[in-house]
Amino acid sequence: MAKIKKLKSSKNNNKKNKKNGKLEKDIFNKIKGSLLKRKDVRALIRMQNVLSLKRINYPDHGMNHVKIVARNSLRIFELLSKAGIKTTTQIQHKFSEEDVKIILFFSSILHDIGMSVDREFHEVFSVIIAKDIIFDELSKFYDTQKTIILQSEILHAIFSHRRKGKPKTMEAEILRLADGLDIAKGRSKMLIDSNQSNIHFISSFSIEKVEIEKGKETPIEIKIEMSNPAGFFLVSEFLKEKIKETKLSKHIKIKARIKGQKNFSIL
Ligand SMILES: [Fe+2]
Repeated sequence: MAKIKKLKSSKNNNKKNKKNGKLEKDIFNKIKGSLLKRKDVRALIRMQNVLSLKRINYPDHGMNHVKIVARNSLRIFELLSKAGIKTTTQIQHKFSEEDVKIILFFSSILHDIGMSVDREFHEVFSVIIAKDIIFDELSKFYDTQKTIILQSEILHAIFSHRRKGKPKTMEAEILRLADGLDIAKGRSKMLIDSNQSNIHFISSFSIEKVEIEKGKETPIEIKIEMSNPAGFFLVSEFLKEKIKETKLSKHIKIKARIKGQKNFSIL
């Protein structure tokens, strides 16, 4: 009898977990849509791109960029999850996968909105501007405590996304790497940050394709295809620096090859 009760209750728990999981997925999808529809967010992203393209000659920093960053960060998290790796907030707050996705999605979409003010210190301006937007959206679905914890984690990721940032959570490390992976077809910021010296310039334009895949030796393999060996320079100078000494580094291998060649080199 006790055994039957136990079985029934574990069945009920499974049902409950499935129901909760579905509810959380629904919340994530609703929040995602709601954030992207906001007129203030769209106007800020438009302004960050006006600064980028028209005033400081940076590459595209508009909706296209932030959506690529969101896709990259969610993909990295998906592969980590499949390998059973827990992120900082999953360990420290017992957050669910959907909670982590919210942190990654919000920080990806809002990380550069401070560029609507200026490029210098933009990560600080992004935090200041994003704060109320995040609270506004999340408080529709969560109580104050959960809203504030999620908001803090999102703001930390935004603040530490810069090249010399010091992320303290795996979520923030994922955002920083996901941002750095938007380098295909001359989309890298490196050519500007480095005063357009020859090697940086050629390097930035030689990345053809970036793929984030399940690896054989590590949960994640980042495969980079380039048209020119100069691309190796960008990857080793810029990208490797982003994962060096992070919690992520042992889970990721970066591989690169010249277009048309068979084998990837491990960087
Ligand atoms: Fe960015």
